[in-house]
Amino acid sequence: MGEFVVRGGRRLEGTLRVHGAKNAALPIMAAAVLASAPVTLEGVPKLRDVDVMIEVLRALGAKVQWVDRTLVIDPSGIHQYVIPAELMMKMRASIFVIGPLLAKFGHAVAMQPGGCSIGDRPIDIHIYGFRQIGADVTETEQGTRLDAVNLTGGAVHLSYPSVGATENLMMAAALIPGETRIRNAAMEPEIVDLAQFLEKLGATIRGAGTPDIRIVGRRELHGATHSVIPDRIEAATFILAASATGGHVVLENCIIEHLPGLVGRLRDLGVEIREGEGDRIEVNAPQAYRTMPVSLHTGPYPGFATDMQAQFMAFLLKVPGVHIISERVFENRLGHARELRRMGAQVMADQRVALIYGGHALHGATVRALDLRAGAALVIAGLTADGQTVITEREVIERGYEDLDARLNTLGADIDRR
Ligand code: EPZ
Repeated sequence: MGEFVVRGGRRLEGTLRVHGAKNAALPIMAAAVLASAPVTLEGVPKLRDVDVMIEVLRALGAKVQWVDRTLVIDPSGIHQYVIPAELMMKMRASIFVIGPLLAKFGHAVAMQPGGCSIGDRPIDIHIYGFRQIGADVTETEQGTRLDAVNLTGGAVHLSYPSVGATENLMMAAALIPGETRIRNAAMEPEIVDLAQFLEKLGATIRGAGTPDIRIVGRRELHGATHSVIPDRIEAATFILAASATGGHVVLENCIIEHLPGLVGRLRDLGVEIREGEGDRIEVNAPQAYRTMPVSLHTGPYPGFATDMQAQFMAFLLKVPGVHIISERVFENRLGHARELRRMGAQVMADQRVALIYGGHALHGATVRALDLRAGAALVIAGLTADGQTVITEREVIERGYEDLDARLNTLGADIDRR
């Protein structure tokens, strides 16, 4: 596994363009299975997770090719509905294809995706939803098997607004001629983007972005062209890196409305964040922060996104005061606290709550990226630390960030890869 080597003590300054959202692109790529003609996707980031989803689609029989930065997926050759176990192990998001496979072929088989460092990540809510719309579900030695002579649609009330379960059910429902209603649905911007793509394929969807989504599908969906939304988590990562280094950065392709809970808090702490024309925002951070205790908890959108919790913790180390972070989405997503302590951070955490004593200097160390967002947090901490920080398991970070080192270096950072 490779490493990032970060030399700290430099302000970030300059302009950077945010890429398309990984967490919009992955379900939309899976939704291409539903189409009866090729789909063209623009703005798909070139990431390891995207590479795995391409492998999954090709393993099922689809033709997938990059044309410069555009991804063209032709689903007409799909002849298989068993997701290869080794690909499910590589990336949990492979589970997004079971909804489309079930709806299109009446069958889907997927090994239960493994848990990961942030939690067990079961798929019980997905399975409950598929049963509610008419699927039979059995456990076999190949994994979870879903069969449906014909999916009935109907009403599904999710026990938790699961992003993946909402997306999987929306995709299956897009091929069911009747109405399917999803209550307590997830409301993330990526849900709205998937809905827009499914509508381009020919489905009718009302209420995406609210807890109550109604989908009227069709037996056959056509092809489409779609550009995925900007990556709000990548944007948050760059905003927090600029804020932690006292930087002055302009971000292009950044939708500020997708960052509830972040922009307001940073402004309260003295970071100037201004919207420019088009999807541009300007971040101008103070060289030092006054003492101010901060407390936050993560939650489903529009709550504070769990995917920017680790990066926010790394930023808070620059703010004098005692801060509390409560991670309420995943059961074990505070492991980066231990890695930050190796850099001298005064932070302690159990599985759900972290106590941060901000305002103390960090020093370089050798640390490990536990998950992609924890890894991004270590990059932010390394930018502010005295000396050199070596971040191992670089590939974990590259699952969700394209050319992170090169792009931060265009803003004045000093990061090598090896
Ligand atoms: C999506 O994961 C994102 N991944 C995650 O981003 C993100 O952290 C998460 O949503 C929450 O916003 C993609 O979109 C590819 P969930 P997903 O289903 O769909 C529990 C990143 O960093 N749950 O909303 O798996 C689950 O264990 C990644 O880019 C069940 O119990 O998230 C978790 O505690 C990490 N049963 C909570 O719900 C289920 O059937 C939220 O999970 C499904 C979920």
